[in-house]
Formats: sequence, C-alpha cells, structure tokens
Amino acid sequence: MEQDVMAIVMAAGKGTRMKSKKSKLVQKIYGKEVVKRAVENAEKAGVKDIVAVVGYKKEEVMEVLGENIKYAFQEEMLGTGHAVMQATKYLEGKKGKVLVLNGDVPILRPETLNTLLNKSIENKESATLLTAIYDNPTGYGRIVRDVGGNIEAIVEEKDTTESQKAIKEINAGIYCFDIVELLSALKEIKPNNSQGEYYLTDVIKIMNDKGLKTGAVIVEDNTEILGVNDRIQLEMLTKVLQIRINTEHMRNGVTIEDINNTYIYDDVEIGMDTIIHPNTTIKSGVVIGEDCEIGPNSYIREGCKLANKVKIGSFVEIKKAIIGEGSKVPHLSYMGDCEIGSHCNIGCGTITCNYDGFHKSKTIIGDKSFIGSNTNLVAPVTLGDNSFVAAGSTITEDVPADSLAIARQRQTNKEGWNKNK
Ligand code: UD1
Ligand code: CA
Repeated sequence: MEQDVMAIVMAAGKGTRMKSKKSKLVQKIYGKEVVKRAVENAEKAGVKDIVAVVGYKKEEVMEVLGENIKYAFQEEMLGTGHAVMQATKYLEGKKGKVLVLNGDVPILRPETLNTLLNKSIENKESATLLTAIYDNPTGYGRIVRDVGGNIEAIVEEKDTTESQKAIKEINAGIYCFDIVELLSALKEIKPNNSQGEYYLTDVIKIMNDKGLKTGAVIVEDNTEILGVNDRIQLEMLTKVLQIRINTEHMRNGVTIEDINNTYIYDDVEIGMDTIIHPNTTIKSGVVIGEDCEIGPNSYIREGCKLANKVKIGSFVEIKKAIIGEGSKVPHLSYMGDCEIGSHCNIGCGTITCNYDGFHKSKTIIGDKSFIGSNTNLVAPVTLGDNSFVAAGSTITEDVPADSLAIARQRQTNKEGWNKNK
C-alpha cells in the first residue's frame, strides 16, 4: 500500500530573546537560516510534501523557504496543537505518516528523522516521539512512563507535579504521527492547562486512552535537538555544527590541524590527503581535490573548484576561482572570477581587479604561467599558456602564450638626492 509521508514544520512562534528586528527563524547558522535548515532536514530524510505553519513575520519566513513547500497560517499563537490544526487541510484524505518538527531546531540529523519514521511504521505506532535524557530537564515537557515503560503522557513543566519534575526524559518536540489518528486526536485537545494553550503533546494521552500504540526514540546525540532562542544558543549550535562537519571531513581522510578554528560550511567536497591549516573558512558548494593544502588564514568563497595538488597559502581570498592541478597561490592574494590553468604560480600579493563598480569580469590564466609578485590583473583579461608577468605589473591587456609582460614604470635613480635634501 502506498503510504504518504509528510512533514509539518511549526514556524509561527515569536521568540523575543534573540533581540533582533528579524524573526529568530531567519537567523543564520553558517550562512543558512535556522528554519531553512529545519525544512532541509526533512527533505534530506526523503520527505517531499512539507507544510510550514507560519505566523509571526510570515513574509520573512516564507521568503526564506520559497515556493516549493506549502504554507498554513496561524494568526494567533494558541499553542503547538493549534499550530498543527492550521495545517490539517493538507492532511485530510491522506493515509500514512506525518513528521512534526520545530522550526527552531536546525541541526537535527536527517538520519534521526528516518529512525523515527521507520520505528513508527514498523511498530505500527500512532505516535512516535523523539525524546532525550537531560541532567537538567527544566523547561521541557516530561515523558511520563508507566511501570512497563510505556509512555502515558507528556506533561509540560508548568503542569508537572513535584515527582514529575524529577523526570529526566524530556520531549524534544519532534514527532511522527499516523495521519488519520492525528487528525482525530487533534479534535479532542482542549486548552485546559496552566497556559491556556492547545498542547500538541496532549494527543499522546488521547491516543493512549483510545488504546492506540505510542512509543519513543531516545536521541543518542543530545546536541541534535538543541533549539535557537537567543544569540548565545545560536553560537552554541554553530560550534556543534562546525565540529560535526569538520569531524566528517577528517573521517573521509582530510587533515584538519585545528578543529576549533576551521570553518567549513555545509556541502563542501574535500579530497583525501588534503591539509587544512587553521583559521580557514570554506563556503558551501566549494570543491577541493586531493593532496591540496589550504591556509592558514585563508578564505575560500562560493563557486571555487580546486583540482588536485593545489596550494592556497596564507591570507588568500578566492571566489569563483577554478584552479588547475598543481597550481599555487601561496600568499596574500585576491583571486576572484578567474580560471587558472594547471601548474601556475601566482606570486605574493596578486590581485584580480574583477569589479569596475558596475560589473564583474573574468581573468583567465593559461597553464604553466608565472605571475610575479604584486601584480594587478585588470579584468576582463586573458593570459595565454606559459606566460610570464613581471613583478609589480598592472596588466590591462591580454598576454599571448609564451610571452613576458612587463607593465610598470621603468626605475630612475636620482643620485645624491636624499643626501642633499
Ligand atoms: C514544546 C513542547 C514541550 C517540549 C518542547 C521542546 C508543547 C505543548 N510542548 O514546548 O513538551 O519539551 O517543545 O522544545 O508542544 N509554535 C507555533 N505556534 C504556537 C506555538 C508554538 O508555531 O502557537 C512553534 C514555535 O515557533 C516553535 C515550536 O512551535 O517552533 C515549539 O513552540 P515552543 O513555544 O518553543 O514550545 P515549548 O513551550 O517550548
Ligand atoms: Ca598589491
């Protein structure tokens, strides 16, 4: 039987602790918005049918999430249950599972969502929760289990009894529900609690009372379910993501000398035996070959593609640079919008002058070329294979293959000038 798999991302909440003119959901972690990450995690888990429930600053949130997902609107913040109720029109008539995610939980692993989904399907559970064991569970909904270990209910912090407060298993706010059973249970939740809200968490007890099966997956890595409420947590999550990404590259055979001071964004490809020196930033989408050496203190921006054995030394910034095998940019250069062939040497302090105030232009450098130190390459400009540029040149015209280009004032010495001054 064909099963529908959907996701609802709750993204209507306000969040005041960020102290920002923008919604906390559009704050960025490594260049990508918090809520975008939440949606992409569902997409990476294989979910195609995604609904975001938006409310506070909805235009901002929708602009970030784009037109490939569906939207439901929550005008008043009446609780997480109420948020999901706004999306029910998309669930009507469907059979299968729906993942419900918090829009402000950005670094959940897609694998964890799959584990949740698979357990829910295999065990035929009407609700499967993601839970975690916290030493300090303050603020979270507590998971109340019976003597047999079955989940009885989720009790919000403000509604807990003294003994429930001591429970260390908490509700992560990430769920997998049977669509039909969720629709039916949502009709029964009432705002009779200390906050006067419609709690999504109440559906657990409602399902249990109907004799339906519910269960939980305890997350192994507690950092996955961290939410973003203020800028301190924003930094914390960035750190967690940084270490996670760097560790992954190291497992794949990349040497990273200082895991804490290397900033590799999502979706970067780095080949085996490449070495990344400290204080290097590499932006999303960059591709780096094998046996390269990058940094220290270098900045590899969007659109760069480095072949094998490329060296990018210290204090170098490159952007949209396609660099051929064995080429070197060893020190203090800016190479933007350029194609550099193989086995080139780009001398210290070389700059591609790629912007005239209106347009970006390209610099093309042929194989085996040598660019002397402190050269300005005023784009658009093309240097043929095996060309040689004298140090200190400002190159404004194309250089034919196998040629020497010198573009600087000839030196004059005024003898005795400084002595007689
Ligand atoms: C919720 C859970 C709690 C869990 C915690 C985990 C409920 C009742 N409680 O608590 O058990 O431990 O998450 O973080 O669900 N939102 C809306 N509209 C609303 C209210 C919330 O869209 O009317 C969105 C928020 O933007 C947020 C998410 O739902 O993304 C969770 O809301 P939040 O207020 O943070 O839930 P908690 O009260 O912390
Ligand atoms: Ca210079």
